[in-house]
Amino acid sequence: MITSLGINTVDPTVIDLVRDTERTDDDLVLSVIGCGYLGAVHAASMAALGHTVVGVDVDQSKITALGQARPPLYEPRLADLLADGLGSGRLRFAGDPAAVRRATVHFLCVGTPQQPGGVAADLRHLDAAVTALLPYLKSGDLVVGKSTVPVGTAARLRARIQAVEPAAELAWNPEFLREGHAVADTLAPDRLVYGVPGGPTGTAAADLLNRIYAKAVADGTPVIITDYATAELTKAAANAFLATKISFINAMADLCDATGGDVVQLADALGHDRRIGRQFLGAGLGFGGGCLPKDIRAFLARAEELGAGSSLGFLREVDAINLHRRARLVELALDACGGLPAGRRIAVLGAAFKPGSDDIRDSPALDVAERLASFGADVVITDPRAVDRVAETRPQLRVTRSLDEAVRGAELILLLTEWPEYVALNPVALSKVVDRAVIIDGRNALDPARWRAAGWSYRGLGRAGS
Ligand code: UGA
Repeated sequence: MITSLGINTVDPTVIDLVRDTERTDDDLVLSVIGCGYLGAVHAASMAALGHTVVGVDVDQSKITALGQARPPLYEPRLADLLADGLGSGRLRFAGDPAAVRRATVHFLCVGTPQQPGGVAADLRHLDAAVTALLPYLKSGDLVVGKSTVPVGTAARLRARIQAVEPAAELAWNPEFLREGHAVADTLAPDRLVYGVPGGPTGTAAADLLNRIYAKAVADGTPVIITDYATAELTKAAANAFLATKISFINAMADLCDATGGDVVQLADALGHDRRIGRQFLGAGLGFGGGCLPKDIRAFLARAEELGAGSSLGFLREVDAINLHRRARLVELALDACGGLPAGRRIAVLGAAFKPGSDDIRDSPALDVAERLASFGADVVITDPRAVDRVAETRPQLRVTRSLDEAVRGAELILLLTEWPEYVALNPVALSKVVDRAVIIDGRNALDPARWRAAGWSYRGLGRAGS
């Protein structure tokens, strides 16, 4: 093995890592540090691949819930995967960091939120995770960073790790999973990116990652082996590109409104160009969630620190266009209330930041609902999954699990998260239970002609021509 890697001198670090890659898959014991959304999905998915996994988190309630196969957020297939892993004995969760002792590969999956009162990434959880791991690191262990981080973080963490255990290595393996598709994205990703240091330990780290992801690799998933900075930048750039694509089409939506065009047809026409593609050209209320908004801000903040802020200045505009969508929707809703929202019954369909999720972090839908409620409107919010979270965090808002209750007697309907059950609503039946048949389609998910034919006043965003 040493010869095949082209190494002439015997470096004990390499031997440990290489030995590890020679074990059978059954021997791989992985730890996952941080069992929030990313970590829970990663731990369960790695167990599903046949690895032995211990998930560690400082939040005991999370550990208890995961130990009972209850995920921290709704995610299709995740509860089943957790139950399978726990049942097979390949997966367990612990609150004590000492539980990572038996593992030889340690995935860092903690959150890197926006700094309180700032825009840069808050790396406190990540640094704390490394601090907790350090006492248990052994010669030949591989630490694998998956959290979204500012470029330069991996090099800094490697120095911290190797100051304590010089024969441990660090790889940066960013995660590109989408909420609502997280399990599928983890088990069958579009690509795998490994940021590794140059030299034999980096090569051995990449080999080990290839073993961990053997199924995806065998299925032909492209593997990009690169340096730390490129791996870190790939993640930030991917989210920045997606956010830019959404804000681009939303800017076009404004142009459509100003000129009588239809942004949905425009997006279809653009999307047929294979160089552009139709995905992420869904104009409407814009992006939210725990990733895109904070990631573009952190990316810009890091670029500014590096003296390259002007190169990413456009992201400020991307952010501004996105936030303006919410203000625009509120404006349209106020218009629909004749400028007098106080006491008007408004049904808000959707609270999650996107369908298929119960995540309400930076949810555009909830933002709009809150603003309208602050104007005194009688807002009733419904969502197939997120109602409990709204009730927990925003006790001042009125929520209901019942779509029927939300829409009955409404003077205005706002479709703000395009859950399939809302898109499939029958406009004729709905018109019989509302007070006024007025709808604003914040996700351009409905067929305007069909709704108008059923007697509705329909308004989309960028659909003046529809
Ligand atoms: C995003 C990225 O898509 C993932 O690749 C990445 O791994 C993840 O962030 C992360 O960094 O962890 P996610 O936040 O789950 O994933 O959600 P997206 O599917 O990207 O949607 C983000 C927001 O954009 C949603 O509010 C959605 O409604 C909105 N959106 C999406 C649009 O407004 N228009 C579109 O055409 C597409």
